Amino acid sequence: MATAGEIAAVGVIGAGQMGSGIAQLAAAAGCAVLLLDADSAALSRAVASISASLRRLAAKGQLSQAACEDSIKRIRCVSTVQDLRDADLVIEAIVENEDVKKKLFVELDKITKPSAILASNTSSISITRLASATKRPSQVIGMHFFNPPPIMKLIEIIRGADTSDEVFAAVKSFSERLGKTVICSQDYPGFIVNRILMPMINEAFWALYTGVATQEDIDTGMKLGTNHPMGPLQLADFIGLDVCLSVLRVLHNGLGDNKYSPCPLLVQYVDAGRLGKKRGVGVYSYGQKSSSVKP
Ligand code: 3HC
Repeated sequence: MATAGEIAAVGVIGAGQMGSGIAQLAAAAGCAVLLLDADSAALSRAVASISASLRRLAAKGQLSQAACEDSIKRIRCVSTVQDLRDADLVIEAIVENEDVKKKLFVELDKITKPSAILASNTSSISITRLASATKRPSQVIGMHFFNPPPIMKLIEIIRGADTSDEVFAAVKSFSERLGKTVICSQDYPGFIVNRILMPMINEAFWALYTGVATQEDIDTGMKLGTNHPMGPLQLADFIGLDVCLSVLRVLHNGLGDNKYSPCPLLVQYVDAGRLGKKRGVGVYSYGQKSSSVKP
């Protein structure tokens, strides 16, 4: 099994916002990165945004020009899981669906080298259950990054029931190599951060739904009243309302307490396709004036 220092080749699956941010971090830390997505347009967008982000850092003097260009060169786009056969660590950041992730883990288990560590960037799906789809559960672990990964300072590491101490230690030092602070969670629904964050976001939806205040006042209240960089409704739009709803459902099903039951307004927004910033409309509208749609 690879130790942190030996993690030289990293496979990242999913070229969305999280996957490209993770690929950028690994490349900047000196790893050879294999960025996998079946959608070639998504890969092109990811490479463009990673290059722009690294060049912005170079322009600000946080990275030398040479290190920036070398990091970009270290990223290779690939389109099949077989291309990840030489990776020391694979981090998946695909759709938040347990069956889809399990199928991927079965495939990864077959094609990656026996020493490879398999990590999931899941927001809330059980690492133990993903690990049980493989014949190497001691080498499966959760590596939960926060959006935007290049900026957010945290990685939440989740130990599945069988994750070994060696794998935990290797992933912890690798995360520190990426410049992140690490916290460790046992494998219970929502782990640490989403277990606390999502009920707050849900409560903000209840406040809006029951007419306590406007979305702007709820967000301004939490921004200025508690020094959060974004209000909870703005943050929900940023994360994706579908992601928030799916995490709340995992919390509700897994912990069995009604306090996690998603607010009907959040459910209705997701049903209506108002998924947040990525769709141009969520609680707020983007590219236009703020939405004045009333619950
Ligand atoms: N990639 C790289 N850099 C980025 C970026 C991105 N996607 N977005 C912003 N930045 C950089 C900007 O270049 C800027 O850098 P500079 O200060 O050196 O010039 C800096 O971040 C600040 O950006 P802006 O001035 O454009 O905007 P803000 O000051 O409003 O900051 C924010 C944007 C960093 C996103 C800030 O609003 C924030 O921290 N929001 C909260 C984000 C958060 O809570 N994320 C976690 C969500 S939960 C999660 O991800 C878990 C999941 O499981 C649900």
